[in-house]
Amino acid sequence: MKLAIRGGSPIRTRPFTAWPIYDGREAAGLQSVLESRNWGGYPCPNDLARELGRQFAAHHGASYGVAVTNGTVSLELVLQAADIGYGDEVIVPAYTWEGTAAAVLFSGATPVFVDVDPSSYCLDARLIEEAITPRTRAIIPVHLGFRFADMDAIMEIADRHNLFVLEDCAHAHGGRWREKGAGSIGHAGSFSFQTSKLMTAGEGGMVTTNDIELADQVIRLANCGRPPRRETSGQPALGHNYRMTEFQASILLAQLERLEEQTLLRETLATSFERSLNGVTGISLLPRDPRITRQASYHYVFKYHPESLGGIDRDTFVAALKAEGIPCDGRFYEAVYRSSLFEFAAEKFPAWAAGRHDFSCPVAERAGYEESVWLPHQIFLGTETDVADLAAAIIKVLENIEELSGYEDERIRTQRMSRAQRALLEAKPPY
Ligand SMILES: Cc1ncc(COP(=O)(O)O)c(C=O)c1O
Repeated sequence: MKLAIRGGSPIRTRPFTAWPIYDGREAAGLQSVLESRNWGGYPCPNDLARELGRQFAAHHGASYGVAVTNGTVSLELVLQAADIGYGDEVIVPAYTWEGTAAAVLFSGATPVFVDVDPSSYCLDARLIEEAITPRTRAIIPVHLGFRFADMDAIMEIADRHNLFVLEDCAHAHGGRWREKGAGSIGHAGSFSFQTSKLMTAGEGGMVTTNDIELADQVIRLANCGRPPRRETSGQPALGHNYRMTEFQASILLAQLERLEEQTLLRETLATSFERSLNGVTGISLLPRDPRITRQASYHYVFKYHPESLGGIDRDTFVAALKAEGIPCDGRFYEAVYRSSLFEFAAEKFPAWAAGRHDFSCPVAERAGYEESVWLPHQIFLGTETDVADLAAAIIKVLENIEELSGYEDERIRTQRMSRAQRALLEAKPPY
C-alpha cells in the first residue's frame, strides 16, 4: 500500500475529536461572570476560583487547591512557599517540558537533572539518591504523558533525606496512583490548564496540598503579598499578581464536571488501541504499572525502534504517520539540559552557575531525539473507529517503511526541527 507521504491515499481524512471540548455550561458560566461584573482574581481567591480550588482538590483527594495563572507559576510558587531558593538544589527529570526546570531557576534554586525510567519516561527513582547532595531540598517528579513517576519509591527516599516532593501534574488531571489522586501524594502538586491540557481555560494553573500553611503562603505569594486569612499563618513576602480570573474559573468548573467521564473514555480507547497493536514489530508500548489505578492520558506515548526498521529515523516515521492523517509528534520534549528553547547559561542564571552542568541522561536523550512518539489525548475521546484508524495508520507505515528509505521532504525536515526553530515557524507576527 503506497504511503500517503509518497502520494498514496491517507488512512484517515476525517478530523479526530476537536479540543478543547465545550458546551452550554461554559457559555452560561462566562455569561454569568460577565453579568456579575466580578471578573478578576481579587479578592484572592475570588468566589469561583475558591470553589474551583475546593472541587479540584477534592477530586484529587487533596485538602486544599489554590488556582493561579498557569502551571509554571504554580511550580514556582510552591518552591517559594516552601522556602526553596538560592543555594538549594532541586532534582528534576531530564525529560519533561522546559517549564519544570525553568520554575526551579525562577525561584532561584538550581535544577539537577536525573534520567528517566525507560519503562515510563518518568523520573527514575533508582537514580535519585546518587544525585542527592547536602544542598538538595526537593524532588519534582513529573507524571509524564500517561504514566506516573514511582511515587512509592520517591516518597520513601524523600522521607529518608527530609526532602520536599512537588508533583508536576501538568499531564495528570484525574489520574490516580494506588487510588490516591495526582497531586495529593507529595507535599504539593502543580497542574496546568493551558490549551492542550486535560482541562483547560486557555491558560491557568493549580496548586494542591494537604498543608494549610503552604496553601496560605502560596495565596500570599500569588496575591501581591497580602495575607490570605484573618488569623493567618505564613511569612510576610514580596508577591506577584498570579491570580486566576473568574472567567477562567467558571470555564474550569465546567471542564471539571466532564473530567471523570473523559478520563474513562480515554482509558477504554487506549486499551482497544493497545490490543490492535499486539504483535506489531518496530514499535513497543510502555508497560502498564498496576499501581496506576486511574490512567490520565495527556498524550499516549510509544517507542519507535529505528534499528529494526532499516534505520529509518523516528522523525521520518512521524512525518509519514502525520501524512496518513494522524496528529502526532516525536520531538515533543528534549533532554531538558540540551534544550534548544533556552540556554542554561551561567551568566543568565546565577543559580545555574553555582551548580553542576555535566549531565548525561541517555534514556532522556534517546526518548527526545530518537525514540518517543506522542499522540494527543483527543484522539482517544472519540470512537472505536478512531483508534482503529490510528492503529491501521501505524501498521501501514511500519509495513511499508522501505518506501521511506532515502526519502526526504519539507515535512520531514520540519519534524526534525528544534523547539526553537518550530516556535519561529508557528509564530504569528507579534506586531
Ligand atoms: C510537565 C509540564 N510542567 C509544567 C508545565 C507548565 O504549564 P503552563 O504551560 O501552564 O505554564 C507544562 C505545560 O506545558 C508541562 O507540560
